[in-house]
Amino acid sequence: MAEDRAGAVLVAGAAGFIGPMVLRVLLRETDRRIIVLDKLTYAGRRDNITRAPERAEDAGRVTFVQGDICDLAVQGLLEACAVTWLVNLAAESHVDRSLGAAPDFLRTEMQGTLNLLEAVRATPAVTKFVAVGTDEVYGSIDRNAGYEGERWYALARKQSELRTVVREHLFREGAPLRPGSPYAATKAGADLLVHAFVNSYRRRDGSPMPCVVTRGTNNYGPFQHPEKLLPLAICTLLRPDVGKAGRRRVPIYDDGLAVREWLHTEDHAYGILRALQSAEAGATVNFGSGVRCLNRDLLQAVFREVSARAGTPFASLAEASFPAARAGHDLCYGADCTAARTELGWEPRHTDLDLEIGGLVQWYIDNQDWWMPVWEGADFDAYWQSKYAARLADAGSAPYRFYDEEAVDRPLAQALV
Ligand code: NAD
Ligand code: TYD
Repeated sequence: MAEDRAGAVLVAGAAGFIGPMVLRVLLRETDRRIIVLDKLTYAGRRDNITRAPERAEDAGRVTFVQGDICDLAVQGLLEACAVTWLVNLAAESHVDRSLGAAPDFLRTEMQGTLNLLEAVRATPAVTKFVAVGTDEVYGSIDRNAGYEGERWYALARKQSELRTVVREHLFREGAPLRPGSPYAATKAGADLLVHAFVNSYRRRDGSPMPCVVTRGTNNYGPFQHPEKLLPLAICTLLRPDVGKAGRRRVPIYDDGLAVREWLHTEDHAYGILRALQSAEAGATVNFGSGVRCLNRDLLQAVFREVSARAGTPFASLAEASFPAARAGHDLCYGADCTAARTELGWEPRHTDLDLEIGGLVQWYIDNQDWWMPVWEGADFDAYWQSKYAARLADAGSAPYRFYDEEAVDRPLAQALV
């Protein structure tokens, strides 16, 4: 459905995971030219951009510029390319890495956002800047609701009580920010900078700075780097025998008793488009699917799908996994998305998680040429070894038992919280 021809859209950080879907939706739904600005860190790839267009004739509408959002040259780029919409996806995005490399996160998330805000401020032609944020800035429902430590583990085993607590404490846009990791803290800092600019500066015509913060829940979909939970599990089940440290298994934090809300990247991309089209200056909007489950139920579904579609050398998820940990692990996220629905007319469409996990597993089966070079590459192997190998060796070769046998075949639809 073609829309307006009003200027170009610059999407920073589009060579990562969510970016290709944002490009696809922008190409599908608008006539705009698209400029991609990406530094190509370990998480970014040129071929993610070339694979994004659905129609070959759209490829010519996308221009790639390798660069850093912290670079002062961004302002010149906005002018030179007649940019009127700006989306920032560029970030260091992995919580586990933020625990060892917080300065990199501080730089890209905060200094980068500040630089983009200054560039927007100096470029009146920009009519909308969407700073893509995360629901992780709200903290974690276990802490926010007073269910820390053992209280959480007891609650997590009682599905209906867990559901009640989660629904009572869903993140709402006006809630105080209580980030629990360096990643979430620097994303929160970026959000605060956006709001500070809207509050502090006006356009010459008196209008507010046209900046919006979106906060998506955990995304899934094609092109996600194997360091994140879902691709890590799928790739391990499909190809565990790579790397120097011997057979990989799936590291499971806190016995899989954390809850995440899973949003398909296509739904997220449509939310970002709606924010570009109609969110008001200064708005903050959550995007989530309402589909939440314990990590162990999710992983069990992944195990079933991989076994059924391609087979795996492991006899069970228990055999395929081992106990691991993340310092300060946020045990529960869940977002209220009433504002996205009522104010932006947005609705998620990918909400049958059993079906979606099957589709996701199939994508990784069909696209091994995309992830195998990373999966067996020296960089990822060094990361895997430094992070997990010692813990796996400590866990020994015994299967990790974390699941009730009766629950193993339960569809995700029955496991939602
Ligand atoms: P990603 O890590 O897959 O991709 C990040 C991209 O940003 C990469 O292409 C990388 O090369 C680029 N980049 C990093 N630093 C840069 C810099 N200084 N200048 C220019 N480019 C740089 O991340 P993602 O999962 O696609 O997430 C995109 C955005 O969405 C992030 O802001 C993230 O916080 C947010 N978000 C992600 C999720 C999720 O589940 N993945 C959920 C909600 C919000
Ligand atoms: P992740 O994909 O890293 O996203 P985030 O931490 O930003 O939500 O992790 C999703 C969930 O999976 C989270 O509860 C942490 C857990 N997890 C594991 O149990 N093992 C792992 O190896 C990873 C990477 C994550």
